[in-house]
Amino acid sequence: MCGIVGAVSTRNIVDTLVEGLRRLEYRGYDSCGFAVMNVDSSTHPIERARTTARVADLLEQAKEFKGNIGISHTRWATHGKPDTHNAHPHISNQLIAVVHNGIIENFEALRSELIAAGYRFESETDTEVIAHLVHQLYTKSEPRNLLMAVQLATQRLVGAYAIAVMAQDKPDTLIAARVGSPLILAFGENENFLASDALALAGKAQSMVYLEEGDLASLQYDQVQIWDQQGKQVERPIKPMPAQASAVELGPYQHFMQKEIFEQPRAIADTLANLDELGPALFHADPNQWTSFDQVLILACGTSYYSACVAKYWLEGIAQIPTQVEVASEYRYRQSIPRAKTLVVVVSQSGETADTLAALRHAQAIGHPLSLAICNVASSAMVRETSWHFLTKAGTEIGVASTKAFTTQLLALYLLASSIAKRNGRLNQEQEKVILKNLRHLPKAIQAVLALEPQIIAWSQIFSGFENALFLGRGMHYPIALEGALKLKEISYIHAEAYPAGELKHGPLALVTEKMPVVTVAPNDLLLEKLKSNLQEVKARGGKLYVFADQDTDIKNTNDLQLIRLPEHYGDLSPILHVVPLQLLAYHTACARGSDVDKPRNLAKSVTVE
Ligand code: M6R
Repeated sequence: MCGIVGAVSTRNIVDTLVEGLRRLEYRGYDSCGFAVMNVDSSTHPIERARTTARVADLLEQAKEFKGNIGISHTRWATHGKPDTHNAHPHISNQLIAVVHNGIIENFEALRSELIAAGYRFESETDTEVIAHLVHQLYTKSEPRNLLMAVQLATQRLVGAYAIAVMAQDKPDTLIAARVGSPLILAFGENENFLASDALALAGKAQSMVYLEEGDLASLQYDQVQIWDQQGKQVERPIKPMPAQASAVELGPYQHFMQKEIFEQPRAIADTLANLDELGPALFHADPNQWTSFDQVLILACGTSYYSACVAKYWLEGIAQIPTQVEVASEYRYRQSIPRAKTLVVVVSQSGETADTLAALRHAQAIGHPLSLAICNVASSAMVRETSWHFLTKAGTEIGVASTKAFTTQLLALYLLASSIAKRNGRLNQEQEKVILKNLRHLPKAIQAVLALEPQIIAWSQIFSGFENALFLGRGMHYPIALEGALKLKEISYIHAEAYPAGELKHGPLALVTEKMPVVTVAPNDLLLEKLKSNLQEVKARGGKLYVFADQDTDIKNTNDLQLIRLPEHYGDLSPILHVVPLQLLAYHTACARGSDVDKPRNLAKSVTVE
C-alpha cells in the first residue's frame, strides 16, 4: 500500500527520497511523487514531480530538482482513480504540501466545509482535505505556527493516517503525525528523516524511533521533537537502524517471489532457532494465564487465513481444543457470542492489515481479554495490541504473493497446537522430543521439495496456456489447495478455484473437461484412498490430473494423470511441504505468461485499508 519518505538535511536529499520510494515499491502502488524545497534559493518555491509510471520514471524527472527538505510518496488508490492529479504530495495554495497514508473517513464533510470557505480541489482524494485544512489553520494563526496547525487539523480528522507536512515559508521543518498507520523517525548526521517503513532508510541513518499512536513530531536537520496524544513532549525508545537494505536486493533470483520461495528453509530454521521446549514461553505468554483458555478463535485474511484453516486441524486433532477460524473482514460485522475463556489469535505477515486489526479490536471490545499475535513484523500494531505474541522470522517479504510468511505462520501455529497439547496432558516427554526432532529436520525436507523445480517448470509451460484451473485437497490439505489456487490466480491471472475433493461430485465436476487442469494435493495420509476415488471421477470425465503425491504413494503416471512425487511423507507437518510445489507452479506459470510477478495488478502488499 502507500509509502512515505521525508527528509530534512543540509545536503540535497532528492536521491534519498526517490531511493526510499524504490525500496517501498514492493508494497504495491499505482502512482508516486515527491515535493522538495531548497533553503538556499531566495524564494524556495515547492517543486513537485508526480507520475503514474514507476519510481524509476520519477528518478528521471528528479534529475531536474534540488532540495534539502522534501517529502515523497507511493500511492495505492482508494479515493480517486490512479491518475497524476490524485498522486501525492498534495499542495494547498503553493504553501502547504502533504503526503498521507491511510483513510480520512470524514473527508466529505471536511471537503464541503473547505469548498464553502473558498478552497478549490484539484483531486478526488481524501488527502487534499488535509492540505487545505492545515493551510486554513496555518494562515489564520498569528504568528504562523506549522506544528500547531497540524495538531489542530489532526483533531478534526476521523480515520487512520500517517502524514508528513511541510510549508513553503518554513523551509527548515517537517511535521509528522500518526494515528493507525505506522511512521518512523530516523536520525542521521546533520539530517533527519521519516518513513512509513524502516526499510526505506536502511543504511541512511544511524538510529530510529517508532512514533506511537497519536504522536506528533517536528523534524529539523539538527533536532527532532515528539509530543504524545496529550500534547506532552516525550521521548520514544531509540532503536538501531537496519544497516543495509539487503532484503530489497534480488541476488541471483529473477523475482522476489522466487527468492522468497527459496528462502523458506532458512526462514523455518530461523523461526525454530533456540527452540528446545514447547510451552507458553514460546508465545511470551504469562504462565498463570496459559491454562485459562479452553477454546481458540483465529482471525486472519488471505493467505494468513489459510494458514489458520490448517491450524484448526492441528488444534482440534493434536491439542483437542475447540477452534473457530474466521475471515477477519466478516467477523467484526456479524453478531457473535463472546466467551471470555477464548484465546483470540490474529495471524498476519504485516501485523497492519486493517481488517485483521479491526477484528482483533472488535473481539477485545466484546469481551475476549486474551489475545495472541502470530506476526512477521515486531513493531506492528498487532504485536503491540495483543497480550502475547510469536514472531515468525521469515524476514522482510517483498513479493505481494505471500510465500515464506505462510510456511513460517504454519510452523508457529503447529508450535501453538503442540504446546496446548502438552498443557492438556496429550503429549508426553518422548512425544515432545519426536516433535522437536521432526521440526528441526523441516528445512532439509523443504530443500528436497525445492529440488523439484525443473519438473514444475515443465508443468508451468502447459499451465500457461490454460485460463482456468481446479485445485483439490482433503483434510488439512484442503486449505493448501485453497492457498495454491490463490497463488495461481493472484500472479498469473488464471481463474483458479479450490475444493475439498469429496465436494467435487456436488457441483464442480460439471466444469471438468480436457481444458480444465485439476491440480491435486495427494499426501500419503489416511484420506488418500478416498482421494483416489475422487481422482477416478475426474478421469472418467476426460479431465487432466496434475498430482503432487508423496514418494511412497501408490499412484501412477498415466496419459491423463501427470505425477510429481515429493520426497517423503511428513505426517502432521505435511502441509508445510505440500504448499511449496504449488508456490513454484504459480510462480513459473506467471513468469511464462509474462506477468509482473512481484507487483500483480490491483494488489498491494500490506492492505491497510478496510
Ligand atoms: O499481512 P497479512 O498477512 O495480514 O496479509 C493478509 C493478506 O492480505 C495476504 O495474505 C494476501 O492474501 C496475499 N496477497 C496473499 O499472497
